[in-house]
Amino acid sequence: MSRLVFEDLVLEYEVEEGAVRCVDGVNLEVPEGKVTALIGESGSGKTTLSNAVLRLLAPNARVRQGRILVDGVDVLGLSPEEVRRFRWHQASLVFQAAQSAFNPTLTLGEQLLDSVADHGQHPGRPPFPQRVRELLGMVRLDPSRVLPAWPHQLSGGMRQRVAIAMALVLRPQLLILDEPTTALDLITQSYVLDILQEVHRTTGVTMLFITHDLAAVARLADFVGVMYGGRLVEFASAESVLRHPRHPYSLALLASVPRVDGQRPTRARGALLAPDLLHPAHGCNFAPGCPRATERCLQERPPLQDGVACFLPEVDS
Ligand SMILES: Nc1ncnc2c1ncn2[C@@H]1O[C@H](COP(=O)(O)OP(=O)(O)OP(=O)(O)O)[C@@H](O)[C@H]1O
Ligand SMILES: [Mg+2]
Repeated sequence: MSRLVFEDLVLEYEVEEGAVRCVDGVNLEVPEGKVTALIGESGSGKTTLSNAVLRLLAPNARVRQGRILVDGVDVLGLSPEEVRRFRWHQASLVFQAAQSAFNPTLTLGEQLLDSVADHGQHPGRPPFPQRVRELLGMVRLDPSRVLPAWPHQLSGGMRQRVAIAMALVLRPQLLILDEPTTALDLITQSYVLDILQEVHRTTGVTMLFITHDLAAVARLADFVGVMYGGRLVEFASAESVLRHPRHPYSLALLASVPRVDGQRPTRARGALLAPDLLHPAHGCNFAPGCPRATERCLQERPPLQDGVACFLPEVDS
């Protein structure tokens, strides 16, 4: 299994007004062979963090500090040729719009085989076609129907499943899913989650799963990371974060949506103020809206310790 480690990562986007610090000192060892969900409100840096792993950052992005290790190698230092070999072989990404990213002028079979060929394998010979068939079976699609089809002949949910199969074709050990079900209707979302669960069970691939859907987190994730303003504020088992969130922001985030079990965490407080990424806070960036913040929180940045970056975390009761 490939080990993914973020080491003190700081990423900024250069804009006219200055630098937007969208990943601010993230330290995380993503548990191997497990499903880790990354949650946090819009703009908290989840996509930037995951795109950085695949070296898919926008041209105005700058790495200010830190490393992203996959199997001990810093992906930020790879040459373009090495990046090409790394993607799909070691790590793949399925994003929200993947279903719309197929070439409309090629059949899905051609595209699946092309994606194999592009990555240095000869597509015309086994075992690849067999692998493609197996993977389509794993995402519960009928190869004889899907391979000759044009993208527009399949539903969005079916295309998203083809994208998942495609991401797995070269047996990567890390699969990043950035809101893979957001663009789908509810029933299809649920079906795709089932399939992802099965993919994980069958392949043992390490999954990093970005989502706003807490029901999906409860269903799929072993671990949960909570991001706020580019910082990882909590990281623990899914059970722990969903049932006993300890960072005041996690508490507020979870309180903003009904819980899967129908209960709501009762002690939710604190306004969800968007942090100013152009002027990152010296201390805790949640402190200005945090009901329990002290002077120390405004001055000093709490490190992630025992799974929570807070000087006054909620204690388990
Ligand atoms: N190319 C860019 N240039 C400038 N700022 C950017 C760029 N891309 C993203 N940002 C900003 O960086 C921050 C983090 O964005 P990112 O897309 O990583 O967040 P996210 O957590 O994935 O949000 P969402 O849940 O909406 O997908 C946001 O404030 C966003 O506006
Ligand atoms: Mg995003």
